[in-house]
Amino acid sequence: MNLLGSLFGSSIGRKILMAVTGLILIGFVVGHLIGNLQVFQHPDKLNGYAQFLHNLGPLLWVARIGLIVAVVVHIWAATALTLENNRARGSAYGVKHTLRATLASRAMRWTGLVVLAFLLYHLAHFTFGGAQAATFKSSLAPHVMTADYSVAGFPVIKAGATVPDVHAMVVLGFQNTLVALFYIIAVGLLSLHLLHGIESLFQSLGLRTEKWAGCLRGFAAAFCLIYFLGNLAIPGAVLAGKLPPPAKAASAQR
Ligand code: HEM
Repeated sequence: MNLLGSLFGSSIGRKILMAVTGLILIGFVVGHLIGNLQVFQHPDKLNGYAQFLHNLGPLLWVARIGLIVAVVVHIWAATALTLENNRARGSAYGVKHTLRATLASRAMRWTGLVVLAFLLYHLAHFTFGGAQAATFKSSLAPHVMTADYSVAGFPVIKAGATVPDVHAMVVLGFQNTLVALFYIIAVGLLSLHLLHGIESLFQSLGLRTEKWAGCLRGFAAAFCLIYFLGNLAIPGAVLAGKLPPPAKAASAQR
């Protein structure tokens, strides 16, 4: 069997696929959070960053297609492994060995489903702009950059350029309390999903040894707590009135 055949065709192969796609998705959510935290700086930052990503053109599409493939393979492998576990539970041998895993995987399934539903809403909300009239990109005045936006010291978006006002879109989006609360719950469940996911992926890649299983659990817990707090900060700050709406945003944040 070739490599792809063994990855997709065997139980251990599917576990490795879940682990590797999980790692790719963790890389994306962490990078996305770091980018989003620029909302706490002058609007030039988040707006320049978003425009820089959009200007990547075909490269952005390569990354998007990579992410879509990772999500599809992750869900497929999870479903296939769950069905296998359910079949194994039918036999006395399976009951003994999968009880603990079954409880954990049940939580993984529903947290995973909520995160998927959140993702679809989120894309409609911020990327396609259809879920909430107030945040529809074209209804927001464009932002005029007051300074260059630089990446690794290179000014990639120049002062004076007109770009979509992603900063205003985010702040306005979270002024709706229900939307902000939904985001907070969803990122909370995503953090729970990652808590078990990180331990499982180390296990699947053969990197979780008895000796440092405790350390790994501590690392996963700290990582997920920081990830949750970082995400909570954005809708939380808007709800607490710490991120002012667009009219006041530019002058208040200089
Ligand atoms: C407080 C939390 C979050 C904020 C403020 C936020 C903000 C944004 C914004 C503003 C965009 C649109 C950027 C643009 O069109 O220029 C976006 C896109 C996106 N977000 Fe988030 N996001 C958050 C959480 C998440 C989470 C938890 C996930 C994953 C589960 C996620 C996945 C995505 C994806 C896949 C896109 C589309 C990227 C693309 O254009 O290809 N976001 N987000």
